[in-house]
Amino acid sequence: MCGIVGYVGNREASPIVLSALRRLEYRGYDSAGIAGIRINGAEKNENFQIRRCEGSIDRLKDLLDTQPMVGTTAIGHTRWATHGRPSEKNAHPHRFRDVVIVHNGIIENHKELRQELIKKGHRFDSETDSEIIAHLLDRLIRETGDFEKSCRTMIKRLEGAFALAVLWSHDPDNLFVAKQGSPLLLGRGEGENFVASDIPALLEYTKEFLILNDGEMAFIEPSRIRVMDFSGKLIQKKTQRINWSLAMAEKEGYDHFMLKEIHEQPRVLQDSLRGRIVPGFKNVIFDTIDWKAEKWRSFSSVSMVACGTAWHAGLITKYWMEQIAKIHADVDLASEYRYRSPVEFPKTLSIAISQSGETYDTLAAVDEAKKLRHSLLSITNTVDSSIVRRTKNVIYTHAGPEISVASTKCFTAQLMNLALVTVKLAQARRAQSKAWIAKFLKDLSSISRQIEKVLKHEDKVREIAKKYANYNQYFYLGRGISYPIALEGALKLKEIAYINTQAYSAGEMKHGPIALISDQWPVVCVAPNDRLFPKMMSNIEVVKARSGKIISIGTEGHKTLENASDDFLPIPKVREELSPFLTNIYLQLFAYHMAVLRGNNVDKPKNLAKSVTVE
Ligand code: M6R
Repeated sequence: MCGIVGYVGNREASPIVLSALRRLEYRGYDSAGIAGIRINGAEKNENFQIRRCEGSIDRLKDLLDTQPMVGTTAIGHTRWATHGRPSEKNAHPHRFRDVVIVHNGIIENHKELRQELIKKGHRFDSETDSEIIAHLLDRLIRETGDFEKSCRTMIKRLEGAFALAVLWSHDPDNLFVAKQGSPLLLGRGEGENFVASDIPALLEYTKEFLILNDGEMAFIEPSRIRVMDFSGKLIQKKTQRINWSLAMAEKEGYDHFMLKEIHEQPRVLQDSLRGRIVPGFKNVIFDTIDWKAEKWRSFSSVSMVACGTAWHAGLITKYWMEQIAKIHADVDLASEYRYRSPVEFPKTLSIAISQSGETYDTLAAVDEAKKLRHSLLSITNTVDSSIVRRTKNVIYTHAGPEISVASTKCFTAQLMNLALVTVKLAQARRAQSKAWIAKFLKDLSSISRQIEKVLKHEDKVREIAKKYANYNQYFYLGRGISYPIALEGALKLKEIAYINTQAYSAGEMKHGPIALISDQWPVVCVAPNDRLFPKMMSNIEVVKARSGKIISIGTEGHKTLENASDDFLPIPKVREELSPFLTNIYLQLFAYHMAVLRGNNVDKPKNLAKSVTVE
């Protein structure tokens, strides 16, 4: 967790670092800080200036307004607390004498290093694991008199995950960075260079990027960047041009990123499909995967791992894999998978699903699957993220940056790509006829137009949200492929509206949860007109008989459901496998409007961060 930024160049550094930090705030907002090296005219008097505060970047901005910084080199940090509560004292940057650092990750051997340094007379100001880095480096520099050599020695002593940016006051134009397990990339400019935790943070300044791998570090000066491995061997890195526009990373007139991202979904699905369906709906192509049909045919089971919303995408895919591709499929919470001692199962295709590509639990589950010699495939939205480096075969969701902590468009894009993988397997296994595949792909291609129709009902969703805004507990019910959608809708309401939700397969209600039903628990029913609709309808009647209030999402023109519901939201008629793309849109909008009505910080809900890079 946490976001880091650095700048060396010829412009005032603090406004640049501050604006880049704003774009990283989704990575954590417990505290923020910036450190620069003061310059008096052309003189560099070797003094650090540090501004830091508990809370968000807005508070840091206020601090900088009252205590401005000057200078052309700076590093910055936005924190999601791991070691040490959120406070000014625990905020980065951390300084010890002539060294100042910002860190994202966890130094696993920080206790040993701290003890070692305490024995040598060091005193620590914070409760963080990160502060030891500044102490250790300063000590090494004093012993050797050599900044770069000391950085190389220091990096070898650190265990765990880190993305680091470091300044030494005696060499103000030389910024040291290193990466192991946490994201970090370099941006190239004209007479200036940048560092940040992700690409959107720097898009305002450059489109030229160098992506660091684990085990790589760099010394960054205004007119040169030297990348090397941890032993100091120089590495020739290719500059990559990233053509995301800055506007793609901004709100485009919507009140919140979440709303913008919900409305982007039709476009995102078209981008996800682009070039992946052969004209005439005959086949699916993934240009990033070079498996032949025999390879796809060789799998006898599918094992998916993911967390949170991405896990829900996996649950839906399990239905698709079994019904459409006729292949055994499992989906695990990544945090459980690695500890449940999964048994080696030959010819397993292991699919890791992660928007950020940085979720610690998912990466650890991938490592576990590797040990079991599964064939690995990842579905991610983030170019050159950690998951990409772990799994040679990658499918990018092409959803563009998702800024809101609550995942919306990336979930939909994950579903689209997982549907395409299902088709690939179905074809290889000859589980469906050519005509069936062609019709399915055609229907998949038109789903973005159906989403546009659902989005037109946003006013109605807002009215329903107003009607129910004061209820503090909700049930979400679904069956079959709609059950994971109930889980996903319930998670959305929980995470951004802070409302207690319980999601169940509707068939499970009678086994206990129904005891809670009363007119104080509105029940959101995901009930498209599919095979299980008659069963779902009976479950709804049982809830109604106990005074439950029904908000239902069903197929347009379906009067039985509409008449049984207090409020009804219609989706267009669609084949049963694809209803999740549509029903989910209403649940995203419902959660969004509930959160707005409750005055919550929609894009940055409390206690959460966009990338969960800790266990
Ligand atoms: O980046 P990932 O897809 O691996 O993230 C997984 C979860 O942390 C994420 O989906 C989380 O549940 C979201 N806040 C849901 O909106």
